[in-house]
Amino acid sequence: MSKIIVSPSLLSADFANLERDIKLLEMSGADWLHVDVMDGLFVPNISVGIPVVQSIRKITKLCLDVHLMIQNPQNYIEQFVKAGADILTFHYEAVKQPRDVIDLIKSYNIKAGISIKPDTLPEKILEFLPDLDLVLIMTVEPGFGGQSFINYCADKIKVIKKHAHEGLFIQVDGGINDVTAKICTDLGANSLVAGNYIFKSNDFRSAIKLLRQGS
Ligand code: DX5
Ligand code: ZN
Repeated sequence: MSKIIVSPSLLSADFANLERDIKLLEMSGADWLHVDVMDGLFVPNISVGIPVVQSIRKITKLCLDVHLMIQNPQNYIEQFVKAGADILTFHYEAVKQPRDVIDLIKSYNIKAGISIKPDTLPEKILEFLPDLDLVLIMTVEPGFGGQSFINYCADKIKVIKKHAHEGLFIQVDGGINDVTAKICTDLGANSLVAGNYIFKSNDFRSAIKLLRQGS
């Protein structure tokens, strides 16, 4: 099986010490950095945006995996690309023409992802899989860290896996810990986002290792 990508969610980091936390994650074997962007409209919470991505870009070479939980993501793609995002994932539920948004992201030669909320069926996005680099299956309602994993969301992994091209990242996000990570990787997920599980541990390195254990 191919390597499992661990993408720690910076939503659980100490924003007053973001550089310290990012360096620690780098030293602890993180593959990507997951940046959660929330606009208070698509989700009932507000987090960070373009200037923070730009600042993070200056201090790390790790892949910036940016999860846009915003309405009208198409209006902000260029700015996030210029800020240094390597992957831009938008929500299927937030746009009218997913194909146009995928094309726009790919026109900048970065990776494009689509995310689906817990109540969105995976069948809705199958037609886009050939053009996508990543599918993000939300395993909690987007908006907040520290929620519990929703079991029925894991079944969607199988559906996506069945239709996925070889290079597709199948990512899960929300309530991921050592136990739920294994459920997801056994079903075919190959990219794990984890916030609380990593940041609440006192040893990032072993937390990241435990997440990869199922691989
Ligand atoms: C939630 C975010 C997640 C969140 C995950 O809307 O998309 O990335 O930070 O946090 P945990 O791992 O604590 O559930
Ligand atoms: Zn996320």
